[in-house]
Amino acid sequence: MKEVGSQVTIAMDGPAGSGKSTVARRIAEKLGLLYLDSGAMYRAVTLLALQEGLAADSPKLIDRVKTCHIEFMDNGRTILLDTKDVSVQIRTPAVNRLVADVAKIPEIRREIVKHQQRIGAEGSIIAEGRDLTTIVFPNADFKFYLDASVTERAKRRLAELQAQNEKATLVAVEAEIRERDKKDTTREHSPLRAADDAATVDTTDKTIEEVVDLIIAHVYPNER
Ligand code: DC
Repeated sequence: MKEVGSQVTIAMDGPAGSGKSTVARRIAEKLGLLYLDSGAMYRAVTLLALQEGLAADSPKLIDRVKTCHIEFMDNGRTILLDTKDVSVQIRTPAVNRLVADVAKIPEIRREIVKHQQRIGAEGSIIAEGRDLTTIVFPNADFKFYLDASVTERAKRRLAELQAQNEKATLVAVEAEIRERDKKDTTREHSPLRAADDAATVDTTDKTIEEVVDLIIAHVYPNER
């Protein structure tokens, strides 16, 4: 349990489409916390690789990660890469296809994790991704693992893509999600897994608001 107003770190992990980004953003707004979208940082590095023609495992990319500047604005809504707004570009299919290969490189992860821990030290935060509960904030006050069925996650992703006027089918999106799950959970460094002390929340049949309320009730049980 946590006193309202005291510093808090909430870490949340889960696979693509589990709802963690939307849920974390909503909780950040409701509780006045900083929101950290860790996947956006791996996406920004992936964009850097594409823009500069560098392979995911090239030493040059590792050097660039050390010198590039990644910054969030508007509480996570905008991401700047070397002062340029890349919020839209990091969500393109080209980045989607390459990001897991970039995120598996240990030297890249090390730099990104350091950066995330610096952001976390600034104050109360809700951070989400694949290794926030296990590696980035192992001593977080609260840990959650969000999950949902593959079909439900594919439906959510398809709706997002359609909203961006991207053409896709449920079968193709489901296959892409299975592939990404496999890469995220079986990679050698920081694979996606539920931390032993994380509470698992199955979001398959829940609305965003239901998940948000459930988590807030867990953090501040006396505030209802
Ligand atoms: O959550 P997302 O779809 O934006 O994440 C993009 C990719 O980044 C995903 O394939 C896994 C990787 N990632 C990671 O390895 N560690 C994190 N903490 C967050 C994301």
